[in-house]
Parts: sequence; C-alpha cells; structure tokens
Amino acid sequence: MLPYVRTALPGLRSGLLRAFQSANFSAQAAAAPQAAPPVPERTVFGGLKDEDRIFTNIYGRHDPFIKGAEQRGDYYRTKDILNKGRDWLIDQIKKSGLRGRGGAGFNTGLKYSFMPKVSDGRPAYIVVNADESEPGTCKDREIIRNEPHKLIEGTMVAGTAMGARAGYIYIRGEYVQERLILQKAIEEAYAAGKLGRNACGSDIDFDLFVHYGAGAYICGEETALLESLEGKQGKPRLKPPFPANVGLYGCPTTVTNVETVAVCPTILRRGPSWFASLGRKGNSVGAHVCTCMCE
Ligand SMILES: Cc1cc2nc3c(=O)[nH]c(=O)nc-3n(C[C@H](O)[C@H](O)[C@H](O)COP(=O)(O)O)c2cc1C
Repeated sequence: MLPYVRTALPGLRSGLLRAFQSANFSAQAAAAPQAAPPVPERTVFGGLKDEDRIFTNIYGRHDPFIKGAEQRGDYYRTKDILNKGRDWLIDQIKKSGLRGRGGAGFNTGLKYSFMPKVSDGRPAYIVVNADESEPGTCKDREIIRNEPHKLIEGTMVAGTAMGARAGYIYIRGEYVQERLILQKAIEEAYAAGKLGRNACGSDIDFDLFVHYGAGAYICGEETALLESLEGKQGKPRLKPPFPANVGLYGCPTTVTNVETVAVCPTILRRGPSWFASLGRKGNSVGAHVCTCMCE
C-alpha cells in the first residue's frame, strides 16, 4: 500500500465514526423532550432596589415611633408569625441563609436552634447586643435611632423562635439619645399591646428590658456582656458551658446582634428565598446596613 493511503485510511475511518455518532446523538436529541435551559448564574451584584430595602427609615427622614413604624409595615400580622411556632421560625431563618451581623457571621437559624427544645424549668432569655463599641462602627445606632420598632418586633420574634419569654437589650452607655428613643418605643409597644401579656394578640407573653452598658469595649463579647448584665465586672467567661445551656443568671440564653434580630420579621414576611436572593450564593446573603465614615 502506498504510504499516503496507509496514513489516510485510519483518518477516514475515525471521521466516518464521528459522523455516525453525531447523527445518532441528534436523532436521540430530537426524540427526547426539550429540557429547560439552565438558569444563568448571577455574576453581577449590588444596586439594592428600593423595594428590597428592609430599613426604610434608616436615614431618619420619617417618624421613628409606632405610628410611622406601622405605616412602614412593622407589626403587620406579627401574631400570625409568632403562632407559626418555634420549628417553623427557626426553619425559615435557616433557609434564608441569614448570618449573624455581630461579627462572627455564624448561621443565625442554626445558632437559635441550639437553645433547649424542652425547658427543664429554667426560663430562657434572648439578649440583644447593642454594645457597638468597635471604633468607626455605628450601624446598630442608626437602627435604634430610626427604626426602634423593627428591633423590638425582631427581638420578640427571634426570642419566640428560641423559646424565650423575656429579652434584654444591652445598649452601649454612650448611646444616651438612642436609649431614650428605645425606652420610649418600648413603652409605646407595651401600651399598644405589642409587648407584655398576650403580645400582639398571640397568646404569647414577652417582656423586654433595656440595660445600659458603662463603656467597656470588652462588654461586646457575649459572655463578658452577660457578666456585666448580671452586675459584675465585664470579664469573659470560660466556655463551655455555652450560653445556650448556661447563660444569663445560669439560664439558657442566646446573645445576638441588633441588626440580626431586626431583619427577622421582614424575612419571615417576605420569605427566606427573597432574602437569600440578595447577595452572593455561599457568601453572606441578604442586605446589610453599612457604616460609612469620613475624616
Ligand atoms: C471584644 C469583642 C467585642 C464585641 N463587640 C460586639 C458588639 O459590639 N456588638 C455585637 O453585636 N457583637 C460583638 N461581638 C460579638 C459577640 O460576642 C457575639 O458574637 C455577637 O453579638 C453575636 O451576635 P450575632 O450572632 O447576631 O452576630 C464582640 C466580640 C468580641 C470578642
């Protein structure tokens, strides 16, 4: 056989085979039902739309108190949310992908689920960390100043999710105006039946107290905060035991950030997939309040 025929034959054979295979595949494809085209992966993020904003009064342009808050949608069907029960609340928060806004970024639903499911007789507490002593940070301050009812409703909802019937908000000592606003908002909430016995008509009792810090940065650390709340020097405790088992006054407790609890009611109203759709998958999802400082 001539050399050029010897080299051309194998190429001809594989070309024919490829043609046969592709004809075969296209026949199969024609027979198979058309699958939906894959959803293209999002690669562009940011540019939060107005309708996706959770804190609609964060710039303080409107009434921060209960009338303005209700007009903005706070306390809308809170009773129905509370009556869904602990498991549903935790499950929804988990599905939303919300991660703690206090620094560590731990999955919030999972953290809240660490509280005992069945009480051994001790009360359980939610403690909201409003110490915010990190230099240059004032995101929680804006929430307390301008959206105090989101914080109150959020504490009640998150507290119910973890089986707490009382909550404490530990606020930085220097936030004098903010604690006055918060105290006034809590009084309004009690007067309107949102807090206290049969909170929001839900058959659930929930009390909320404000505690003033004295200006020590370390009191932002959750166990030092608990020591300070108990009236002792704000020094961190050894772990274990963890606060979910032995926390405030030796009772099951979860310490959680202002913003973390304040976003919970909106997540539960709009659904976890809405929140999860904001932001990058596998990263910190949802919208976030940012501090912008200039010198
Ligand atoms: C020294 C120190 C200071 C902290 N300060 C704060 C604070 O000001 N506010 C806050 O929410 N968390 C602070 N944290 C984190 C808390 O210990 C805790 O992780 C957080 O409140 C949990 O809330 P989250 O799960 O909602 O994020 C601090 C931690 C350390 C170690």
